[in-house]
Amino acid sequence: MSLTDFIRKPVFEIFPLEAGDRMVAAALHKARFTRPWSDGELHALLAQDTVFGFVAWQVNALAGRPAGGFVLARAAAGEAEILTISVDARFERSGLGWRLMQAALREARMRGAEEMFLEVDEGNIAALRLYDRLGFAKVGERKAYYESAGGRSTALVMRRDLR
Ligand SMILES: CC(C)(COP(=O)(O)OP(=O)(O)OC[C@H]1O[C@@H](n2cnc3c(N)ncnc32)[C@H](O)[C@@H]1OP(=O)(O)O)[C@@H](O)C(=O)NCCC(=O)NCCS
Repeated sequence: MSLTDFIRKPVFEIFPLEAGDRMVAAALHKARFTRPWSDGELHALLAQDTVFGFVAWQVNALAGRPAGGFVLARAAAGEAEILTISVDARFERSGLGWRLMQAALREARMRGAEEMFLEVDEGNIAALRLYDRLGFAKVGERKAYYESAGGRSTALVMRRDLR
């Protein structure tokens, strides 16, 4: 492999999301969601014992330590939920969403959760495909749940067994 190949292909590793990563997570969230979460909101969430997350750090960057995406989840009383997941558009479709979700599923299981829930806009094809491939299935819907430029859209509630 030549040096240019090495530079062209970013390599990421998944690490637990810490309170100190909240600014990075807020920037990743803001880039992908119309109602961004502030670093203060993320800090408050991460301060809760039941909340956990993971971040993908690029490990072969020439400068800095770019983040490719993060996931935030909660597990309590045998149930887990994905609070949000966001992958930098530059690194989409390179497996980061999959790896972040796998880390969240594993951690939820470790914390004793027997099932995991999430909500997704019915028009979000990328997320729906990802969740479908991960074994999530629709268990309900919330009409006119999300506000978007084109009006209000429906949220699908999805569930996956962790046992
Ligand atoms: C949804 C999201 C997290 C997916 O992350 P990603 O890193 O691009 O996904 P991956 O590369 O891990 O993809 C895993 C699988 O998901 C499916 N998938 C992901 N993006 C897809 C797309 N744009 N179209 C169709 N299928 C897609 C594919 O099955 C893919 O496997 P494949 O590439 O081998 O075919 C990312 O698009 C994102 O951050 N979107 C904006 C924020 C968002 O919508 N979050 C979810 C809110 S519920």
